[in-house]
Amino acid sequence: MPTIVKVLAFSLGMALIFTGIANLLPQVEGQAPEDKEVDLGALTMDSFIALGEDIFKNKGTCTLCHNNMGRAPDILHLDMNEVSRKHLADERYKGSATDVAGYIHESMVDPGAYVVKGFGKKGSKDTESPMPAVNKAPIELTDVEMDAVTAFLQAKDGGEVTVALPSEAPAPSTKEAVPSVAATAEEAIGKFGCSACHAVLDSSAELGPSLKNIGARLSAAQIRQSIVDPNAVIAEGYPPIMPADFADRMMAKELEMMVKFLANSK
Ligand code: HEC
Ligand code: HEC
Repeated sequence: MPTIVKVLAFSLGMALIFTGIANLLPQVEGQAPEDKEVDLGALTMDSFIALGEDIFKNKGTCTLCHNNMGRAPDILHLDMNEVSRKHLADERYKGSATDVAGYIHESMVDPGAYVVKGFGKKGSKDTESPMPAVNKAPIELTDVEMDAVTAFLQAKDGGEVTVALPSEAPAPSTKEAVPSVAATAEEAIGKFGCSACHAVLDSSAELGPSLKNIGARLSAAQIRQSIVDPNAVIAEGYPPIMPADFADRMMAKELEMMVKFLANSK
């Protein structure tokens, strides 16, 4: 077979496997769940790793912070096998993991077990982590999803993958799947991960200014601009790390619901 045909056949195969996984874990794509039998025998480690990469970049919202802008370690460009071993051996480590997979998992559910130097919460002298536990609201990854992320982080630099493939279909999520278009401002704030960085609703995140009384400081027009063009005005004392692509990803209705909600938060 000519190489191009093999490549095309392989890509098609991956696409089919992905369709299977998307149905297995409907919340990954945020679309309504579909009733479909999935043969877990078809789930290979390669597709599990690919699922982990997708979760890292999308549902997990990891790349909101873990990128090259300096607010969090640039995990995609670090060998996490090496980094994990180094941090496990550090005298400041106070968690209970003993290997790379354990360290990565613990970093997701208990980020304060080890705080990377220079990345702690403001004023905490690197004793408190600004990273939210990703198995809790608003991110709420399941154990299977966190295993997929761990497999991806172990594999991307050629490390041995030590997490097991899920042996049974994940328990159906009791949380309603996020609809593709948010129906309320609260839902939109959760869907776009605003609470990962801002104090808003139940969140007290501090990477960006608090939005709890933003209506007292900014007009609706200024709030709208802050969301669609965050670099037009940079709030004093904060780094310019707010994602600039929300305008492309939001429906006008979602944007307007959020603007109204925030403008009324006084
Ligand atoms: C709101 C910003 C934010 C989000 C979202 C976030 N992180 Fe983090 N993360 C951080 C910061 C800041 C640190 C460094 C401080 C610390 O060690 O806790 C960190 C540390 C880590 C570490 C330890 C790195 C090391 O060198 O020891 C891992 C692993 C990690 N994050 C994985 C993830 C994964 C996987 C996701 C997505 C499911 C994620 N993070 C989402 C901010 C974030
Ligand atoms: C990765 C972190 C991050 C995410 C995610 C994020 N923001 Fe921000 N945001 C910031 C930072 C940092 C600033 C301050 C710097 C600036 O003005 O760009 C900011 C500024 C703002 C401001 C202006 C605040 C002021 O006091 O001037 C508003 C309004 C805002 N964000 C709303 C949102 C909304 C709504 C979402 C979700 C759709 C969101 N942000 C998602 C980090 C983030």
